[in-house]
Amino acid sequence: MTECKEHIRLAVKNLSVEIRTGGKDCKVLNQISFTAKPGEIIGLVGESGCGKSMTSLAIMGLLPSGACVSEGEIQMEGKDLLSLSEAELCSVRGGEVAMIFQEPMSALNPLIPVGKQIEECYRLHHKAVSAIQTREITLDMMRTVGLSRVESLYHEFPHQLSGGMKQRIVIAMALINRPRLIIADEPTTALDVTIQAQILELLKKMNVEYGCTVLFISHDLGVIRTVCDQIVVMYAGRIVEQGKTEEVLKTPGHPYTRGLLSSIAGAKNKGEELYSIPGYVEPLEKREENRCPFVKRCERAQEVCHITCPDMKEIQGRKVRCFYEGDGRSE
Ligand SMILES: Nc1ncnc2c1ncn2[C@@H]1O[C@H](COP(=O)(O)OP(=O)(O)O)[C@@H](O)[C@H]1O
Ligand SMILES: [Mg+2]
Repeated sequence: MTECKEHIRLAVKNLSVEIRTGGKDCKVLNQISFTAKPGEIIGLVGESGCGKSMTSLAIMGLLPSGACVSEGEIQMEGKDLLSLSEAELCSVRGGEVAMIFQEPMSALNPLIPVGKQIEECYRLHHKAVSAIQTREITLDMMRTVGLSRVESLYHEFPHQLSGGMKQRIVIAMALINRPRLIIADEPTTALDVTIQAQILELLKKMNVEYGCTVLFISHDLGVIRTVCDQIVVMYAGRIVEQGKTEEVLKTPGHPYTRGLLSSIAGAKNKGEELYSIPGYVEPLEKREENRCPFVKRCERAQEVCHITCPDMKEIQGRKVRCFYEGDGRSE
C-alpha cells in the first residue's frame, strides 16, 4: 500500500454512474478512468451537463438520491472509497479529501460567524487540541488564504463579506485539515474576472505549499489551462481526451477539444467573432451507447461514428476517443 501512496493519490477506474430519469436508468458517467499523483493539479473540463460534478460527487460519496455507482473503482492512496461505511466516509470527507464548491454561500452557514465555521472544521478532526490552540490555527489559516484583520473578521457573518472573501473562507475550511486531495468544482465561476485570477493564484500557491493533489473542475478550458498539469476532457458522460496540458493544447486530438479551444476568448483568431461549438450536449435520456457521444456535433463524423463508440486510443502519451485521430488530418 505504501508503494501506491508514493505514486498515485487518486485512481478512478472504469467508473460508471447510473441515474433514474423518465422511468429509465441512464448512464450519467460511462467508464471514467484517470489517476492523479501527489501534488498534481488535474483539470476536468467539458460543457455543462457532461458529468463533471457527478464525478466529484461520486468520489466524495455524495451522489444524489436515485444515482448509484454501477461499476468501477475509486481509490484514494490505495484505499477503496466505494467500500467505506458512511462513518468512515465522514472521516475521509473534510479530512483527507476536501471539497470547494462553485457557490461559496452553499458551503457557508449564514447564521454562524465565518471564523467559527473554519474552526469547527478543524475541531471535528482534532478533538484533543486545546481551544486556544484551535483558535490560533484558525486565525493562521485565515492569514494564509490572504485575509487580513483576521481577529475581527473571525466574528463576521457570511453576508458581510464579498464573494472573493467568502471563497477564501471556504478554501480555508477546505485546507485547515491539510487534505491530501482537494476537489474544486467550478470554484471561480461565480466570481468577477479579477477576483477569479486571485483565487486561482491562491489555489496554485496552496497546492505548492501543501503538496495536495487538486481535482480542478471547470467548463472553461481557458481557466483549466492556466492551472492544471493534466487535462481530462469530458463529453456527455465519457472521457474523450486526456493527457498533459501542454500536449493536449498543442495538438488537441478530439474534435470536441479543438472546439473548446477555439471558443476560448483571446485564442488564436483574435479579431474574429468568438467561436462557439454548434449544438448542445444531449440530455441523458437521448444518449446512446453505440455511437460516438459527440457525433451529432462533429463536422468530421463518418458512417462508423454513428454506429460504434470509439475506444480511447493512446497516441504519443495522450488518449483520444476518436476514430480519426492520428490519421494525419491535423488542421
Ligand atoms: N439529481 C439529478 N437527477 C437527475 N439527473 C441529474 C441530476 N443531477 C445531474 N443530472 C444530470 O446528469 C448529467 C451530468 O450532470 P453534472 O455532473 O451536474 O454535469 P456538469 O457538472 O458537467 O455540468 C446532466 O445531464 C444532468 O442533467
Ligand atoms: Mg457541475
